[in-house]
Amino acid sequence: MSTAAPASPGQSAPVPGRFDDAPFIQACRSQRVAHVPVWFMRQAGRSLPEYRAARGPGSILDAIAQPELVAELTRQPVDRYGTDAAIFFSDIVVPAAAIGFGVDVAPGTGPVVSEPFRSAADLQRLRPLEPTLDTPYVIEAVQHLAGSLDVPLIGFAGGPFTVASYLIEGGPSKNFTRVKALMHADPNLWHELVERLTDMALASLRSQLDAGASAIQLFDSWAGILTPRHYEEFVLPSTSRIFAEIESSHPGTPTIIFGVGTGELLPLMATAGTSVVGIDWRVPLDQARTRIGAGQAVQGNLDPALCLGTWDVAAAETREVLERAGNAPGHIFNLGHGVLPETDPGILEQVVALVHAEGRAGVGASA
Ligand code: CP3
Repeated sequence: MSTAAPASPGQSAPVPGRFDDAPFIQACRSQRVAHVPVWFMRQAGRSLPEYRAARGPGSILDAIAQPELVAELTRQPVDRYGTDAAIFFSDIVVPAAAIGFGVDVAPGTGPVVSEPFRSAADLQRLRPLEPTLDTPYVIEAVQHLAGSLDVPLIGFAGGPFTVASYLIEGGPSKNFTRVKALMHADPNLWHELVERLTDMALASLRSQLDAGASAIQLFDSWAGILTPRHYEEFVLPSTSRIFAEIESSHPGTPTIIFGVGTGELLPLMATAGTSVVGIDWRVPLDQARTRIGAGQAVQGNLDPALCLGTWDVAAAETREVLERAGNAPGHIFNLGHGVLPETDPGILEQVVALVHAEGRAGVGASA
């Protein structure tokens, strides 16, 4: 299981396996932990006043291309909350934007594509990602963070379905009608598109791992819009390929898969070959564990909206999540989706303290 490999002399990159004893990595591997680890999806960002101060105006894609700023934004929530992991500050559309597909991220809206993917001719606009040439700023920022953080750094990529949905719809979507239309009307084109996006995600993830990230998460945020049968046919093979190829190039790397509204997909997602399955707030963790079966850790799953009210409510609901997680190893506490921008950071700080004090999954001397 160890990722330790001989370090070459004079190499400045962190020694692989440096965080093998960190609670986050141990929980990903369903090992025993000193305390239940916690981090929050979208922990960096607009809920933090220090983010708003450091970020300045302009597109988030400009901020993402500045390694020093990225390092600072990645570190901010770790410093403030004492989370057990850092999530790299970037976005799921960065690789597609970097190869020139014509993607921007509109404040308050999300990714927007000027000329959406509509036909086979658009495949030409999706050349392979070459991380050292196309996203050197990602590599530089990850190297810097991996060498200086006291907690593991999580690298990430967008799942092929979710990235495809932005490219095809041209922006955020409610019903994903264009994606579904293309998928069913021209399955061969869908598979070719997904092949390219899978290669793109893999190239990006590998570059982050080579630069020193300790774990990776695949955000297939919107895959829950699909029926299990269509998820299995149109998405799962590419997802499984991503995790198989990461395991072969970076053996032992903890991997996490996550999507919203995936309750019905959990048994399938659990076959993709990840260490951890992320659970949104709709499925209690004890039921989620039953749906995914033994052998994989769970991550989640406090409803982010429950952090918007009083501490009493957030505390009671945090305890409910800890209770449902049970005593067996393999729970990483998180929200069921990203931190909402209007969240009071003070509440999240208290959630971290409560999880560290009261979480029981895998804590203690005997199994
Ligand atoms: O702590 C972190 O997680 C920050 C790093 C991060 C960002 N985006 C920065 C960001 C991560 C992990 C993402 C992933 C991402 N991006 C996902 C998957 C996670 C999820 O929420 O399901 C998705 C679907 C996107 C696409 C995207 N980018 C959306 C939907 C938005 C929100 C639009 C808005 O403004 O409300 C973005 C923009 C974005 N990405 C912001 C941040 C901090 C906010 C805009 C800004 O600060 O300029």
